[in-house]
Amino acid sequence: YLVDKGNHRHFMEKEIYEQPEVVAHALGQYVNFIDNLVAPSSNIDFAKLPSLAISACGTAYLAGLIGKYWFERYARLPVEIDVASEFRYREIPLSPQSAALFISQSGETADTLASLRYCKEHGLKIGAVVNARESTIARESDAVFPILAGPEIGVASTKAFTCQLAVLAALAIGAGRARGTVNEEEEQVLVQSLAEMPRIMGEVLNSIQPKIELLSRELSKCRDVLYLGRGTSFPLAMEGALKLKEISYIHAEGYAAGELKHGPIALIDENMPVIVIAPHDRFFDKTVSNMQEVAARGGRIILITDGKGAAVSKLNTMHTIVLPDVDEIIAPMIFSLPVQLLAYHTAVLLGTDVDQPRNLAKSVTVE
Ligand code: G6P
Repeated sequence: YLVDKGNHRHFMEKEIYEQPEVVAHALGQYVNFIDNLVAPSSNIDFAKLPSLAISACGTAYLAGLIGKYWFERYARLPVEIDVASEFRYREIPLSPQSAALFISQSGETADTLASLRYCKEHGLKIGAVVNARESTIARESDAVFPILAGPEIGVASTKAFTCQLAVLAALAIGAGRARGTVNEEEEQVLVQSLAEMPRIMGEVLNSIQPKIELLSRELSKCRDVLYLGRGTSFPLAMEGALKLKEISYIHAEGYAAGELKHGPIALIDENMPVIVIAPHDRFFDKTVSNMQEVAARGGRIILITDGKGAAVSKLNTMHTIVLPDVDEIIAPMIFSLPVQLLAYHTAVLLGTDVDQPRNLAKSVTVE
């Protein structure tokens, strides 16, 4: 398989810009856009599961955390999730009637594979959300859910993340249908939102670059950055922090917005940028009040929101990245784009080795 950078400076940039195409491809495998229903799939019967376990590492783990919100909300399916290096040793009481999902771009991550084998020994049905279909994790699973992102070369995962999310969203909707917690009409509405996602991603990628470059210049001068979010924006805040630290080597943390006052608020001063990920969803007002707590302490805020959010947030001491208004289920994928691009452009300005950051490996096959 020959892969080149095309017109891009780095594989990471190319992979960011490929997302509308690969996400559409991934969705096409799970969703029928003629009747707007999730294609019936798999060896896993979600209807009867008492619970679902999810385990993964790094960016794949953060995709799994967003998946947890969806399985719990749409399918009323309790989810136990942990990073694989903890999951494999925690001695979690697992029911053999349950199923477990392992999310892995490479399908070879040692801790994820060990978690899979642990669940297998305990009699659970095993599902793999993988990019590499011939991988060990895929081979050892009962059901394989390919994310179809194509080869990802940049060590920092981008398109695999949004494809993992697209697949998890479709699986959660399908699980909801199987469990009777989502009716046909609701399913169609959710699937229509997914159908719009590639086009909206393309529009965002074509329009936000100048703003991102401007803000990246500020970020590149900072030592620490805090990311905040609520709901599915919380794992995305952690993903934003992970991307930034991986490739720019700037210290960054992702926090649940509501936890701000339990610690990180002590760090806020005029040197500390706070990136707030806040689509205008049911958590928006709460996140805005957390933002006001930051502003009151002189913190520099970068708000990533949508049209509705920008219209109602009244703080003037900040930068705002305004994305289109989108349905809640696709917001994590759309909001991933500025988060990835901020990390990318900051790293480019700092002159790091973006595709091969120091000390990191694309696939971690040792414990
Ligand atoms: C490494 C990579 C990350 C990736 C993680 C899990 O840390 O640098 O980008 O998210 O492993 O890898 P996997 O292949 O299991 O998704």
